[in-house]
Amino acid sequence: MKRAGKIRFLKPDLKSRLGEIDVESGTVLMEALLAAGLPVASSCRGDGVCTKCRLHVRVLEPNAVSPVTSHEKGLLERIHAENDERISCQTEVHGLIEVDAPYW
Ligand code: FES
Repeated sequence: MKRAGKIRFLKPDLKSRLGEIDVESGTVLMEALLAAGLPVASSCRGDGVCTKCRLHVRVLEPNAVSPVTSHEKGLLERIHAENDERISCQTEVHGLIEVDAPYW
């Protein structure tokens, strides 16, 4: 059986407004957020080039997100990302996570 992905929000107002977003396992994080009506910064529209879609991601259960690929690792290094940051257009959701962006 396919495991469900679930996205929570760190900020209380988003938490109360959106609750948790249920997604099919393997859904791209950026696409899930856009579908929920949240803005996600981007100038490459998910092509894995601009790094603007970076988000803070807390993994709340094992293997809840796809592993960092060598391509994403290169992007994260280029922007000196913090340890909990992921490039959301390069990240699949497979379980429970909590996300945050500075502009939400
Ligand atoms: S949207 Fe440009 S790298 Fe993700």
